[in-house]
This record gives sequence, C-alpha cells and structure tokens, in this order.
Amino acid sequence: MRTANAFLAREVIVVGRRRWNRRGAMVTDRYQHLTHVPDVDGLLALAAQRGYVIVGIDNLPGAVPLEGYRLPRAALLLFGQESVGLSPAARQACTAVCSIAQFGSTRSINAGVAAGIAMHSWIRAHGLR
Ligand SMILES: C[S@@+](CC[C@H](N)C(=O)[O-])C[C@H]1O[C@@H](n2cnc3c(N)ncnc32)[C@H](O)[C@@H]1O
Repeated sequence: MRTANAFLAREVIVVGRRRWNRRGAMVTDRYQHLTHVPDVDGLLALAAQRGYVIVGIDNLPGAVPLEGYRLPRAALLLFGQESVGLSPAARQACTAVCSIAQFGSTRSINAGVAAGIAMHSWIRAHGLR
C-alpha cells in the first residue's frame, strides 16, 4: 500500500481475504483506492472492465527478466503471497510473468521490495515525461 502510494498507482487490489495488515501502510491507505476481489476470476473480470493488462511479478520458472521487459502502460502488477508466491490460477491470468534479478543466497525478496522495484520499472517506462 505504501509503495503503491509512493508511485501513485491508480488503485490497490487485494485478491482473496479482505483482511490485510495496515501497519506497514503508514496511513497511506487513506489516500489510496482499495478494491477487493474474491478470487482470480474476479480479478480477471475487473481487469477486463478497466482495460488493465495483468503482468505477474515472481521468480518462477519461465519468468522473463523484468530488466529487459517494457511494462505496458495499463499494467496491473500482480504479486504473490509471501510464502507460496503466485498461485497456478494467478499465473494463468497473467499476460507475462517477470522476474527481478537477484544474486544472493536467499530464494526471493519480500513482496514489498519486489513491488517497489516493479513499480519503479513502470515509472522508468511511462512516468518520466
Ligand atoms: C517471498 S516471495 C514468495 C514466492 C517466491 N517465488 C519464492 O520462491 O520464494 C513473495 C512475492 O514477492 C515477489 N518476489 C520476490 N522475489 C522476487 C523476484 N526475485 N522476482 C520477482 N518477484 C519476486 C513475488 O511477487 C512473490 O510472489
């Protein structure tokens, strides 16, 4: 939520359970549009309605490097859960899945860090005019 606010994302969409931990948002949720959808089908319907292109962000086998990928202007960036990442249904909903290069011993970075990197990639492509 805080990262979405920093990069002026149009909205934050929570897929699944309505509850989320507001502590890290540092009150930015007051200034962000927040939408809930119950499942991936709901997300697909919302994306179609609003003209969003769903791009998954996860370091899954077959993911393309974000570093060489131009995110579409209408990108809906889809991040996975901390433990399990993007579900199979979520992956299927994506036009592409992009990975962020990393080189240390940890298998992944946390979703908030990944969100900052991915949103800044969008800014580099579309936000600096
Ligand atoms: C802690 S990761 C869990 C899943 C991850 N695939 C793993 O194997 O650990 C939580 C979320 O952060 C994002 N993420 C973490 N590391 C990433 C990376 N190197 N590239 C792209 N996304 C990443 C993804 O959205 C992922 O679903």
